[in-house]
Amino acid sequence: MDQHNYHTETLWKAFFTTLMITILGAVMLFGYLLLEEEIRQYINRPVYTQDQLNKIAKNREVSRNKERADNWDLVENGIHVKTGLKSDPNLKLIISSCTSCHSAKLITQNRATRQGWKSMIDWMQETQGLNDLGDKEPIILDYLAEYYAPTELGRRENLDIETIEWYILNLEESN
Ligand code: HEC
Repeated sequence: MDQHNYHTETLWKAFFTTLMITILGAVMLFGYLLLEEEIRQYINRPVYTQDQLNKIAKNREVSRNKERADNWDLVENGIHVKTGLKSDPNLKLIISSCTSCHSAKLITQNRATRQGWKSMIDWMQETQGLNDLGDKEPIILDYLAEYYAPTELGRRENLDIETIEWYILNLEESN
């Protein structure tokens, strides 16, 4: 009887082990089929030295910069990439009038009202040799005042006195 039990147990164990191995194999096969492309790519991936990687990164950067330089008109997120100025139908006029003596950064780093921009132009005309801009001046001022206006100006709405709920501050009660 004992002998018999022992025998059956061994058989069951062998059976389960085989079953487990089969299931494991099936799962692995399934996984392989599922990820075949990724696994192949990983195994066949080119192995570069750090030097080669640096070179590749540099080449990529050089060709990207070249592409950008060729793309004089390139605009990204509303910014003219070459100058950093806000893109606008009058951008060419701004670039030809305002970037011959200094970088466009002087413009993009400044904020002023239309009047403020007018005084800067007056100042450049009086002291820095900027020519009279003629009928281009209002167009340039419109551009500057629109895109490079003071950021805090006119943000807060005027208080509407009528709608405010006033209350009487009672100092005696608070004691
Ligand atoms: C004839 C040359 C010339 C031209 C063209 C010119 N600028 Fe200038 N601009 C100057 C000089 C010189 C300065 C002083 C630069 C410095 O401080 O480094 C200056 C300074 C500025 C500044 C800084 C002013 C400040 O108070 O910090 C702004 C902004 C500016 N220019 C905007 C413009 C705009 C807008 C135009 C186009 C209408 C323009 N510039 C065209 C010569 C010029």
